[in-house]
Amino acid sequence: MEIDRVWAVYFSATDTTKKIVTVLAGEAARTLRAEYCEYDFTLPASRKDLLVFGPRDLVIFGTPVYAGRVPNVLLDFLKEYNKGNHACAVPVTVYGNRNYDDALIELRDVLEQNRFHTVAAAAFVGEHSFSDTLGRGRPDDRDVSLIREFAFGLCERLKRTEKEDYSRPVYVKGNRKPYRGYYQPRDRKGNFIDIRKVKPLTSGDCDGCGICAEVCPMGSIRREDIRTVDGICIKCGACIKKCPKHAKYYEDEGYLYHKTELEEQYTTRAEPEIFF
Ligand SMILES: Cc1cc2nc3c(=O)[nH]c(=O)nc-3n(C[C@H](O)[C@H](O)[C@H](O)COP(=O)(O)O)c2cc1C
Repeated sequence: MEIDRVWAVYFSATDTTKKIVTVLAGEAARTLRAEYCEYDFTLPASRKDLLVFGPRDLVIFGTPVYAGRVPNVLLDFLKEYNKGNHACAVPVTVYGNRNYDDALIELRDVLEQNRFHTVAAAAFVGEHSFSDTLGRGRPDDRDVSLIREFAFGLCERLKRTEKEDYSRPVYVKGNRKPYRGYYQPRDRKGNFIDIRKVKPLTSGDCDGCGICAEVCPMGSIRREDIRTVDGICIKCGACIKKCPKHAKYYEDEGYLYHKTELEEQYTTRAEPEIFF
C-alpha cells in the first residue's frame, strides 16, 4: 500500500501522549519515506478546525485514558471534526499504569465510524497526570525502543498489504458497545469519590507568569487573574506539571485520597500492548 503522509495527531495535556505518538509517526514516516505531519488538538482553538485526511495518509491518533475511556470532553471533536476518507489509522491510548479499560476500543470505533481503516493499535503507559511517582518518567527508553519496533512492524505490514485487507477493524482488547462506564474511585468506606468539580489552587510561590492559563486544554484559567478558574477543570495536570514555580495544587480530600491510593496500588510496571 502506498502512503504519502504520516500524521501524528494527538491530545496531550502533560506531553506523554505527544512523545509516544510523535516518535511512532516519525519512525513510520522515515521508514516509509513519507512526509511527516503533526496536529496537536490539546488547546481549545485547535479543536475548532476540521481535519480531512485522504486514502494515502497514515494517521497515528493518540489520546490519554481518562477514567478508563477516551476523555469525554474530546468526543465532539473526535466524532465531528475528523474525516478519514479511507485513510489508514492507528489508535493509540496512553494510560497512567492503572488500566486502559475500554479506551482503546472506544477510540478505534470512533475512527472506524469516521471512515478510517484501523490497521494496528496500541496502549502505552505514561506518567500519571495526578502523580510524579506513578509511571514516573514514562515513556522511558524501554518504551521508546518498543515504539520503534512497533513502527517497523507496522510499516512492514503496510508494504505487503492492500487497503482491502483492512476491511475489518483491528482487534483490540475491551468490551464492545456498551462500553464499561467511566471508572469511579471510591473512598475507604466504599463510597464514590466525585472529583468533577475540583479545581486547582494557587500558592504564594506564583509569580503570575501565566503559563497555566496558556496550557489549560479547557481554556478555563483566567489570563488576567490566574487564580480564577472560570470553566471546567478536567484534572489533566497541565497547569500543575508545567508550572515553573510548582505553585498549582489540589487540596480536595477525595482527590488526594484517590491519588495516594493509585500510587500505592499500581506499583507494578505495566507494559505496552500492541495489536495488529
Ligand atoms: C481525569 C483523568 C483520569 C485518568 N484515568 C486514568 C485511568 O483510568 N487509568 C490510567 O491508567 N490512567 C488514567 N489517567 C492517567 C493518564 O491516562 C496518563 O497519565 C497519561 O499518560 C496522560 O497523558 P498526557 O501526558 O498526554 O496528558 C487519568 C488521568 C486523568 C487526568
